Amino acid sequence: MGMFITLEGPEGSGKTTVAKKVVKELKQEGYKVLYTREPGGVAIAEKIRDIILDVNNTNLDARCEALLYAASRRQHLVEKVIPALEKDYIVICDRFIDSSLAYQGYARDIGIEEVYDINMFAINNCWPDITILLDIDPEIGLKRIKNNRQDEVNRLDLENINFHNKVHQGYQLIKEKYANRFTLIDGNKSEDEVFNDVMKIIKNKLDEH
Ligand code: TMP
Repeated sequence: MGMFITLEGPEGSGKTTVAKKVVKELKQEGYKVLYTREPGGVAIAEKIRDIILDVNNTNLDARCEALLYAASRRQHLVEKVIPALEKDYIVICDRFIDSSLAYQGYARDIGIEEVYDINMFAINNCWPDITILLDIDPEIGLKRIKNNRQDEVNRLDLENINFHNKVHQGYQLIKEKYANRFTLIDGNKSEDEVFNDVMKIIKNKLDEH
């Protein structure tokens, strides 16, 4: 069995940048590595992603949104993550259940526990071996988003600063509530330092395996 690693953090925390560097490094060292992201990653889940992030879906109900994320998660897990783990891959997944807890559970006010419950159904006990939370000051995160603005602007990007601050608070709450599941990394540090910290955590876990 491989190793399932999830990366979590608010917008602008640098998850994707560090993930790509880590994947490159692990591959160079000879590991079998799969990088993937949520929502999406396989055709059905990408279709669900399109519905969720479509800027025209202004009337998407918050609970419906949470269910769609959970549905997309399930399909991605079964079709992509689990088969790779069975082939001994290290799977690095950009966002997983904790994004739903922070964004839908807390920032959208559905309730962390409620969103946890529907996600328990979706993941059916397939928990990550490590969840790395990139902890970052909300102002630094938002500045990074503005500076690195890509061409894709999705429905969640259109949310105002209060929403992004709530996402940040949501992560603070869940990191305390589920402290034993998280490994925290200071995302305010430089890109190289964050990379080194993440590599250290993964290497330690690989040594335990
Ligand atoms: P991305 O920008 O990391 O690709 O993610 C798309 C957006 O979806 C991002 O704003 C975070 C949000 N999101 C949720 O609200 N809930 C979730 O469960 C996931 C996986 C992502």
